Amino acid sequence: MAGNQFGQIFRITTFGESHGEALGVVIDGCPAGMELSPEDIQKELDRRRPGASAITSPRQETDRVRLVSGVFEGKTLGTPIALLFFNVDIDSSKYEQLKDLYRPGHADYTYQKKYGHRDWRGGGRASARETVARVAAGAVAKKFLNAYGIEIYAFCREIAGISCETVEREEIEKNPVRAADSKAAQLMEQAILEAKEQGESLGGIVEVIATGVPPGLGEPVFDKLDAEIAKALMSIPAAKGVEIGAGFTSSRCKGSENNDPIGYDPQTKRVVFKSNHSGGILGGISNGDEIVARLAIKATSSIKIAQQTIDKEGNPRTIQVEGRHDPCVLPRAVPIVEAMLALVLADHLLRQRTTGLTPLD
Ligand SMILES: Cc1cc2nc3c(=O)[nH]c(=O)nc-3n(C[C@H](O)[C@H](O)[C@H](O)COP(=O)(O)O)c2cc1C
Repeated sequence: MAGNQFGQIFRITTFGESHGEALGVVIDGCPAGMELSPEDIQKELDRRRPGASAITSPRQETDRVRLVSGVFEGKTLGTPIALLFFNVDIDSSKYEQLKDLYRPGHADYTYQKKYGHRDWRGGGRASARETVARVAAGAVAKKFLNAYGIEIYAFCREIAGISCETVEREEIEKNPVRAADSKAAQLMEQAILEAKEQGESLGGIVEVIATGVPPGLGEPVFDKLDAEIAKALMSIPAAKGVEIGAGFTSSRCKGSENNDPIGYDPQTKRVVFKSNHSGGILGGISNGDEIVARLAIKATSSIKIAQQTIDKEGNPRTIQVEGRHDPCVLPRAVPIVEAMLALVLADHLLRQRTTGLTPLD
Protein backbone atom coordinates (compact mmCIF):
# COMPACT_ATOMS: atom_id res chain seq x y z
CA MET A 1 0.00 0.00 0.00
CA ALA A 2 1.25 3.47 -0.86
CA GLY A 3 2.96 5.27 2.02
CA ASN A 4 1.79 8.87 1.91
CA GLN A 5 -0.11 8.79 5.21
CA PHE A 6 1.18 8.99 8.76
CA GLY A 7 -0.62 8.61 12.11
CA GLN A 8 -3.75 6.76 13.22
CA ILE A 9 -6.06 9.36 14.77
CA PHE A 10 -4.13 12.59 14.10
CA ARG A 11 -3.48 11.46 10.53
CA ILE A 12 -1.75 13.32 7.73
CA THR A 13 -1.63 12.69 3.99
CA THR A 14 0.96 14.64 2.01
CA PHE A 15 1.18 15.13 -1.75
CA GLY A 16 3.29 16.92 -4.35
CA GLU A 17 6.63 16.85 -6.14
CA SER A 18 9.57 19.23 -5.95
CA HIS A 19 8.97 20.94 -9.31
CA GLY A 20 5.23 20.27 -9.61
CA GLU A 21 2.62 23.01 -9.38
CA ALA A 22 1.89 22.65 -5.69
CA LEU A 23 2.44 20.53 -2.58
CA GLY A 24 0.09 20.03 0.29
CA VAL A 25 -1.20 18.13 3.26
CA VAL A 26 -4.58 16.99 4.53
CA ILE A 27 -4.77 16.63 8.32
CA ASP A 28 -7.58 14.45 9.57
CA GLY A 29 -8.45 13.93 13.24
CA CYS A 30 -7.44 17.29 14.69
CA PRO A 31 -10.02 17.99 17.43
CA ALA A 32 -12.58 20.76 16.87
CA GLY A 33 -12.52 24.10 18.65
CA MET A 34 -8.76 24.69 18.64
CA GLU A 35 -7.69 28.20 17.70
CA LEU A 36 -5.60 28.06 14.53
CA SER A 37 -4.40 30.85 12.24
CA PRO A 38 -2.23 30.81 9.10
CA GLU A 39 0.42 32.64 11.18
CA ASP A 40 0.69 29.65 13.57
CA ILE A 41 1.73 27.57 10.56
CA GLN A 42 3.72 30.21 8.70
CA LYS A 43 6.15 30.84 11.57
CA GLU A 44 7.27 27.19 11.43
CA LEU A 45 7.48 27.20 7.61
CA ASP A 46 9.73 30.26 7.70
CA ARG A 47 12.21 28.26 9.79
CA ARG A 48 12.34 25.51 7.13
CA ARG A 49 12.29 27.47 3.90
CA PRO A 50 15.34 27.59 1.62
CA GLY A 51 17.22 30.76 0.66
CA ALA A 52 17.35 32.11 4.21
CA SER A 53 21.17 32.11 4.63
CA ALA A 54 24.49 31.42 2.84
CA ILE A 55 24.61 27.88 4.26
CA THR A 56 21.29 26.73 2.78
CA SER A 57 19.97 26.18 -0.76
CA PRO A 58 19.52 29.49 -2.66
CA ARG A 59 16.13 28.33 -4.05
CA GLN A 60 13.74 31.19 -3.25
CA GLU A 61 10.47 29.70 -2.09
CA THR A 62 8.30 31.90 0.10
CA ASP A 63 6.28 28.85 1.17
CA ARG A 64 3.14 30.91 1.85
CA VAL A 65 0.54 28.59 3.28
CA ARG A 66 -3.01 28.47 1.85
CA LEU A 67 -5.38 27.22 4.53
CA VAL A 68 -8.19 25.91 2.33
CA SER A 69 -10.42 23.93 4.70
CA GLY A 70 -11.12 22.80 8.24
CA VAL A 71 -10.95 26.18 9.97
CA PHE A 72 -13.82 28.63 10.45
CA GLU A 73 -13.82 31.86 12.45
CA GLY A 74 -10.25 31.10 13.59
CA LYS A 75 -11.08 27.69 15.08
CA THR A 76 -10.71 24.12 13.83
CA LEU A 77 -13.97 22.46 12.78
CA GLY A 78 -12.93 18.86 13.39
CA THR A 79 -13.17 18.37 9.61
CA PRO A 80 -10.10 17.73 7.38
CA ILE A 81 -7.64 20.62 7.44
CA ALA A 82 -6.14 21.10 3.98
CA LEU A 83 -3.01 23.18 3.47
CA LEU A 84 -1.55 24.10 0.06
CA PHE A 85 1.80 25.49 -1.09
CA PHE A 86 2.35 26.65 -4.64
CA ASN A 87 5.89 26.28 -6.00
CA VAL A 88 7.07 29.64 -7.34
CA ASP A 89 10.84 29.31 -7.96
CA ILE A 90 11.09 26.27 -10.23
CA ASP A 91 14.20 25.87 -12.41
CA SER A 92 14.33 22.40 -13.95
CA SER A 93 17.00 23.32 -16.57
CA LYS A 94 19.90 21.79 -14.57
CA TYR A 95 18.01 18.49 -14.34
CA GLU A 96 17.46 18.15 -18.14
CA GLN A 97 20.98 16.77 -18.71
CA LEU A 98 20.67 14.42 -15.70
CA LYS A 99 17.31 12.88 -16.56
CA ASP A 100 18.77 9.64 -17.94
CA LEU A 101 21.50 9.35 -15.28
CA TYR A 102 21.27 7.95 -11.78
CA ARG A 103 22.69 10.48 -9.31
CA PRO A 104 24.75 8.77 -6.57
CA GLY A 105 23.13 9.07 -3.12
CA HIS A 106 19.74 9.91 -4.67
CA ALA A 107 16.53 7.96 -5.23
CA ASP A 108 16.73 8.11 -9.07
CA TYR A 109 17.65 4.44 -9.57
CA THR A 110 15.22 3.05 -6.97
CA TYR A 111 12.25 5.17 -8.16
CA GLN A 112 12.98 4.10 -11.74
CA LYS A 113 13.11 0.44 -10.73
CA LYS A 114 9.96 0.66 -8.62
CA TYR A 115 7.69 2.79 -10.84
CA GLY A 116 9.28 2.66 -14.32
CA HIS A 117 8.29 6.33 -14.75
CA ARG A 118 9.54 9.15 -12.54
CA ASP A 119 9.54 12.93 -12.23
CA TRP A 120 13.27 13.67 -12.65
CA ARG A 121 12.87 17.39 -11.92
CA GLY A 122 14.48 18.30 -8.60
CA GLY A 123 14.16 14.78 -7.20
CA GLY A 124 10.37 14.64 -7.69
CA ARG A 125 8.55 13.10 -4.75
CA ALA A 126 11.83 12.01 -3.08
CA SER A 127 12.86 15.65 -2.67
CA ALA A 128 12.88 17.24 0.78
CA ARG A 129 10.53 19.84 -0.72
CA GLU A 130 7.79 17.44 0.45
CA THR A 131 8.72 18.21 4.05
CA VAL A 132 7.09 21.66 3.75
CA ALA A 133 3.83 19.72 4.18
CA ARG A 134 5.09 17.89 7.26
CA VAL A 135 6.30 21.09 8.91
CA ALA A 136 2.89 22.68 8.32
CA ALA A 137 1.08 19.67 9.80
CA GLY A 138 3.60 19.62 12.65
CA ALA A 139 2.73 23.25 13.44
CA VAL A 140 -0.90 22.21 13.93
CA ALA A 141 0.19 19.25 16.08
CA LYS A 142 2.43 21.53 18.16
CA LYS A 143 -0.45 23.90 18.79
CA PHE A 144 -2.57 20.97 19.99
CA LEU A 145 0.26 19.69 22.23
CA ASN A 146 0.93 23.14 23.70
CA ALA A 147 -2.56 23.08 25.21
CA TYR A 148 -1.41 20.05 27.23
CA GLY A 149 1.83 21.80 28.28
CA ILE A 150 3.97 19.78 25.85
CA GLU A 151 6.77 21.63 24.05
CA ILE A 152 9.23 20.41 21.47
CA TYR A 153 12.57 21.81 20.37
CA ALA A 154 15.44 20.48 18.30
CA PHE A 155 18.95 21.64 17.45
CA CYS A 156 22.08 20.62 15.56
CA ARG A 157 23.99 18.51 18.06
CA GLU A 158 26.87 17.80 15.68
CA ILE A 159 28.05 18.72 12.18
CA ALA A 160 31.15 17.20 10.54
CA GLY A 161 32.27 15.87 13.93
CA ILE A 162 32.00 19.32 15.61
CA SER A 163 29.75 18.83 18.61
CA CYS A 164 27.84 21.16 20.97
CA GLU A 165 29.62 21.15 24.34
CA THR A 166 26.73 22.95 26.04
CA VAL A 167 22.99 23.11 25.36
CA GLU A 168 21.55 26.63 25.65
CA ARG A 169 18.02 26.55 24.26
CA GLU A 170 17.94 30.32 23.62
CA GLU A 171 21.07 30.06 21.38
CA ILE A 172 19.41 27.79 18.83
CA GLU A 173 17.55 30.33 16.71
CA LYS A 174 20.31 32.94 17.10
CA ASN A 175 22.75 31.22 14.72
CA PRO A 176 22.14 30.06 11.12
CA VAL A 177 23.24 26.50 11.93
CA ARG A 178 20.69 26.10 14.75
CA ALA A 179 23.30 24.76 17.17
CA ALA A 180 22.70 25.02 20.93
CA ASP A 181 26.26 26.20 21.65
CA SER A 182 27.40 29.53 20.13
CA LYS A 183 31.08 28.52 19.89
CA ALA A 184 30.33 25.22 18.19
CA ALA A 185 27.88 27.07 15.90
CA GLN A 186 30.67 29.28 14.53
CA LEU A 187 32.92 26.30 13.81
CA MET A 188 30.04 24.40 12.17
CA GLU A 189 29.15 27.38 9.98
CA GLN A 190 32.78 27.75 8.90
CA ALA A 191 32.99 24.03 8.07
CA ILE A 192 29.82 24.25 5.95
CA LEU A 193 31.08 27.30 4.03
CA GLU A 194 34.42 25.56 3.37
CA ALA A 195 32.66 22.43 2.14
CA LYS A 196 30.44 24.55 -0.12
CA GLU A 197 33.52 26.29 -1.56
CA GLN A 198 35.02 22.88 -2.40
CA GLY A 199 31.78 21.59 -3.99
CA GLU A 200 31.54 19.15 -1.08
CA SER A 201 28.82 18.51 1.52
CA LEU A 202 28.53 17.61 5.22
CA GLY A 203 26.27 15.61 7.54
CA GLY A 204 25.66 15.48 11.28
CA ILE A 205 23.23 14.81 14.13
CA VAL A 206 20.00 16.61 15.08
CA GLU A 207 18.77 16.20 18.67
CA VAL A 208 15.11 16.67 19.60
CA ILE A 209 13.55 17.04 23.05
CA ALA A 210 9.93 17.04 24.17
CA THR A 211 9.12 18.49 27.59
CA GLY A 212 5.92 18.15 29.60
CA VAL A 213 4.97 14.76 28.13
CA PRO A 214 2.69 12.93 30.60
CA PRO A 215 3.38 9.28 31.47
CA GLY A 216 1.32 6.77 29.51
CA LEU A 217 1.78 7.59 25.81
CA GLY A 218 2.69 4.71 23.48
CA GLU A 219 0.90 1.53 22.36
CA PRO A 220 2.75 -1.74 22.97
CA VAL A 221 3.70 -3.87 21.35
CA PHE A 222 4.17 -2.77 17.73
CA ASP A 223 3.33 0.90 18.23
CA LYS A 224 5.69 1.52 21.12
CA LEU A 225 6.42 5.22 21.43
CA ASP A 226 10.12 4.73 20.66
CA ALA A 227 9.29 2.59 17.61
CA GLU A 228 6.91 5.27 16.35
CA ILE A 229 9.46 8.04 16.88
CA ALA A 230 12.14 6.01 15.08
CA LYS A 231 9.83 5.48 12.10
CA ALA A 232 8.81 9.15 12.04
CA LEU A 233 12.40 10.40 12.09
CA MET A 234 13.70 7.78 9.67
CA SER A 235 11.09 8.91 7.11
CA ILE A 236 12.87 12.28 6.79
CA PRO A 237 15.01 12.48 3.61
CA ALA A 238 18.72 11.84 4.24
CA ALA A 239 18.04 10.19 7.65
CA LYS A 240 20.44 7.37 8.42
CA GLY A 241 20.03 6.47 12.10
CA VAL A 242 17.97 7.13 15.24
CA GLU A 243 18.94 6.99 18.91
CA ILE A 244 16.52 7.24 21.83
CA GLY A 245 18.04 8.47 25.11
CA ALA A 246 21.51 7.00 25.60
CA GLY A 247 20.96 5.00 22.41
CA PHE A 248 24.05 3.18 21.16
CA THR A 249 26.02 4.27 24.25
CA SER A 250 23.67 2.19 26.43
CA SER A 251 24.95 -0.92 24.63
CA ARG A 252 28.39 -0.21 26.09
CA CYS A 253 27.21 0.47 29.69
CA LYS A 254 26.65 -1.89 32.62
CA GLY A 255 23.10 -2.22 33.99
CA SER A 256 24.08 -0.24 37.09
CA GLU A 257 25.31 2.60 34.88
CA ASN A 258 22.44 2.57 32.45
CA ASN A 259 19.37 2.18 34.69
CA ASP A 260 17.73 5.46 35.71
CA PRO A 261 17.25 5.44 39.52
CA ILE A 262 13.64 6.17 40.54
CA GLY A 263 12.60 8.61 43.27
CA TYR A 264 9.47 10.41 44.42
CA ASP A 265 8.89 14.11 44.98
CA PRO A 266 6.29 14.41 47.78
CA GLN A 267 5.72 18.10 46.99
CA THR A 268 4.68 17.58 43.37
CA LYS A 269 3.54 13.99 44.14
CA ARG A 270 5.43 12.90 41.04
CA VAL A 271 7.82 10.09 40.24
CA VAL A 272 11.24 11.47 39.32
CA PHE A 273 13.96 9.70 37.38
CA LYS A 274 17.42 10.72 38.57
CA SER A 275 18.94 10.32 35.10
CA ASN A 276 17.38 9.92 31.67
CA HIS A 277 19.27 7.24 29.76
CA SER A 278 15.90 5.80 28.71
CA GLY A 279 15.08 8.99 26.78
CA GLY A 280 11.77 9.22 28.65
CA ILE A 281 10.36 5.89 27.41
CA LEU A 282 10.09 2.51 29.21
CA GLY A 283 8.41 -0.50 27.62
CA GLY A 284 7.36 1.71 24.73
CA ILE A 285 5.40 4.04 27.07
CA SER A 286 6.36 7.58 28.07
CA ASN A 287 7.49 7.76 31.72
CA GLY A 288 6.90 11.49 32.28
CA ASP A 289 10.54 12.48 31.79
CA GLU A 290 11.77 14.46 28.78
CA ILE A 291 11.67 12.54 25.52
CA VAL A 292 15.09 12.69 23.90
CA ALA A 293 15.97 11.40 20.43
CA ARG A 294 18.81 11.96 17.98
CA LEU A 295 18.82 11.62 14.21
CA ALA A 296 21.94 10.93 12.14
CA ILE A 297 21.74 12.73 8.79
CA LYS A 298 24.05 11.97 5.89
CA ALA A 299 26.06 14.51 3.89
CA THR A 300 24.01 16.04 1.03
CA SER A 301 24.10 13.75 -2.01
CA SER A 302 24.30 16.49 -4.67
CA ILE A 303 27.92 17.60 -4.90
CA LYS A 304 29.91 19.37 -7.61
CA ILE A 305 32.77 16.87 -7.35
CA ALA A 306 32.91 14.36 -10.24
CA GLN A 307 31.44 10.92 -9.41
CA GLN A 308 31.00 7.64 -11.27
CA THR A 309 27.56 6.47 -12.29
CA ILE A 310 25.65 4.89 -15.18
CA ASP A 311 22.84 5.96 -17.49
CA LYS A 312 19.54 4.08 -17.94
CA GLU A 313 21.16 1.79 -20.53
CA GLY A 314 23.96 0.87 -18.12
CA ASN A 315 26.73 2.87 -19.85
CA PRO A 316 29.38 4.27 -17.46
CA ARG A 317 29.14 8.03 -17.04
CA THR A 318 30.81 10.75 -14.97
CA ILE A 319 28.46 13.13 -13.19
CA GLN A 320 28.89 16.53 -11.52
CA VAL A 321 25.67 17.71 -9.90
CA GLU A 322 24.97 21.41 -10.46
CA GLY A 323 21.86 23.25 -9.29
CA ARG A 324 20.72 24.76 -6.02
CA HIS A 325 21.53 22.56 -3.08
CA ASP A 326 22.03 22.62 0.66
CA PRO A 327 25.75 21.98 1.36
CA CYS A 328 24.51 20.61 4.71
CA VAL A 329 20.80 19.89 5.25
CA LEU A 330 20.90 19.94 9.05
CA PRO A 331 19.95 23.58 9.77
CA ARG A 332 16.76 23.14 7.72
CA ALA A 333 16.13 19.66 9.11
CA VAL A 334 15.69 21.01 12.67
CA PRO A 335 12.04 22.16 12.22
CA ILE A 336 11.27 18.98 10.25
CA VAL A 337 12.49 16.77 13.10
CA GLU A 338 10.40 18.80 15.57
CA ALA A 339 7.35 18.42 13.30
CA MET A 340 7.70 14.63 13.06
CA LEU A 341 7.97 14.25 16.84
CA ALA A 342 4.96 16.56 17.29
CA LEU A 343 2.92 14.39 14.89
CA VAL A 344 3.78 11.23 16.84
CA LEU A 345 2.95 12.78 20.22
CA ALA A 346 -0.33 14.38 19.04
CA ASP A 347 -1.44 11.05 17.61
CA HIS A 348 -0.52 9.15 20.78
CA LEU A 349 -2.12 11.71 23.07
CA LEU A 350 -5.38 11.10 21.18
CA ARG A 351 -4.85 7.33 21.12
CA GLN A 352 -4.31 7.32 24.89
CA ARG A 353 -7.89 8.60 25.27
CA THR A 354 -9.09 5.32 23.74
CA THR A 355 -6.82 2.81 25.52
CA GLY A 356 -5.84 4.09 28.95
CA LEU A 357 -6.32 6.71 31.62
CA THR A 358 -6.85 10.20 30.22
CA PRO A 359 -3.47 11.81 29.54
CA LEU A 360 -3.46 14.15 32.50
CA ASP A 361 -4.74 11.73 35.17
C1 LIG B 1 15.84 19.89 4.68
C2 LIG B 1 16.47 18.98 3.68
C3 LIG B 1 17.01 19.53 2.53
C4 LIG B 1 17.63 18.71 1.58
N1 LIG B 1 18.23 19.30 0.50
C5 LIG B 1 18.95 18.54 -0.34
C6 LIG B 1 19.70 19.13 -1.41
O1 LIG B 1 19.69 20.37 -1.60
N2 LIG B 1 20.41 18.32 -2.23
C7 LIG B 1 20.46 16.95 -2.04
O2 LIG B 1 21.16 16.26 -2.76
N3 LIG B 1 19.77 16.37 -1.05
C8 LIG B 1 19.02 17.12 -0.20
N4 LIG B 1 18.32 16.50 0.82
C9 LIG B 1 18.33 15.03 0.95
C10 LIG B 1 17.69 14.30 -0.22
O3 LIG B 1 16.33 14.67 -0.38
C11 LIG B 1 17.80 12.77 0.02
O4 LIG B 1 19.09 12.43 0.40
C12 LIG B 1 17.47 12.00 -1.28
O5 LIG B 1 16.13 12.23 -1.65
C13 LIG B 1 17.69 10.48 -1.13
O6 LIG B 1 16.94 9.95 -0.07
P1 LIG B 1 17.62 9.24 1.20
O7 LIG B 1 18.87 10.02 1.52
O8 LIG B 1 16.61 9.37 2.30
O9 LIG B 1 17.94 7.84 0.83
C14 LIG B 1 17.68 17.30 1.79
C15 LIG B 1 17.12 16.76 2.94
C16 LIG B 1 16.51 17.57 3.89
C17 LIG B 1 15.94 16.97 5.14
